[in-house]
Amino acid sequence: MDKILLITGASRGIGAATALLAAAQGYRICINYLSDHTAADRICGQVRELGAQAITVQADVSNEDEIIRLFSRVDADLGRVTHLVNNAATVAHASRVEEMSEFRLLKMMMTNVVGPMLCSKHALLRMSPRHGGKGGSIVNVSSAASRLGSAGEYVDYAASKGALDTFTIGLSKEVAGEGIRVNAVRPGFIFTDFHALSGDPFRVSKLEPGIPMGRGGAAEEVAEAIVWLLSEKASYATGTLIDLAGGR
Ligand SMILES: NC(=O)c1ccc[n+]([C@@H]2O[C@H](COP(=O)([O-])OP(=O)(O)OC[C@H]3O[C@@H](n4cnc5c(N)ncnc54)[C@H](OP(=O)(O)O)[C@@H]3O)[C@@H](O)[C@H]2O)c1
Repeated sequence: MDKILLITGASRGIGAATALLAAAQGYRICINYLSDHTAADRICGQVRELGAQAITVQADVSNEDEIIRLFSRVDADLGRVTHLVNNAATVAHASRVEEMSEFRLLKMMMTNVVGPMLCSKHALLRMSPRHGGKGGSIVNVSSAASRLGSAGEYVDYAASKGALDTFTIGLSKEVAGEGIRVNAVRPGFIFTDFHALSGDPFRVSKLEPGIPMGRGGAAEEVAEAIVWLLSEKASYATGTLIDLAGGR
């Protein structure tokens, strides 16, 4: 079976590490990004050097029209999606709940919850035998925040990831009989640019003493679990949430 992999938010961080790891495993890969086309092109070049066919597609996954355009590009250039990583997400500055604006909350939920749900919808329209597909695999990138709550920092972000966990469990059961597996990873503090969005680019280094393993994680350590869950090596895993948080 041809393996067509769409990774949302793959220009940097965990998504980029996943694209690079998957490149050597026979996937044709779509690197989606929001605005950093230079970074997306760089990762695409590295993926191609590893022997994989790859494209970049700019699309905001919080908007269904853009998601439809994204999947259409993948159909035309690579083929019907068989594997999806819902990785793109956002976070906002550390705040208490009473300081959070409606705009912030809606952007958080549209990007981190509705976006992965809509990307899953359009993937299922290609993966499910109900729609002429041959099965597939979806991995959602959640967060340890979903079980820790992120009090005083970003309870909204934590709640968005809690919704993603529940979506993972429910959808996995809904499509288990159609040859489609749905799983999630829940990273802890990982060294990426993501923390700049929360207002402190050095957040992971500062918080390392509180991590049982005494260090932050690397994007590549999360990518290993994502690529395993995507693959047939995880053929009996669905509805699984893998914690990668150094013991937190
Ligand atoms: N880093 C951590 O400590 C950590 C911990 C737990 C969970 N996570 C989760 O891991 C995932 C990846 O995070 P990361 O740390 O790798 O982040 P990152 O390095 O900041 O990369 C984020 C990626 O998402 C893209 N993106 C953002 N909003 C988007 C949108 N609306 N539509 C399409 N693409 C969008 C960005 O595109 P541009 O480059 O174009 O901006 C970029 O490719 C997220 O789901 C995050 O919640 C991260």
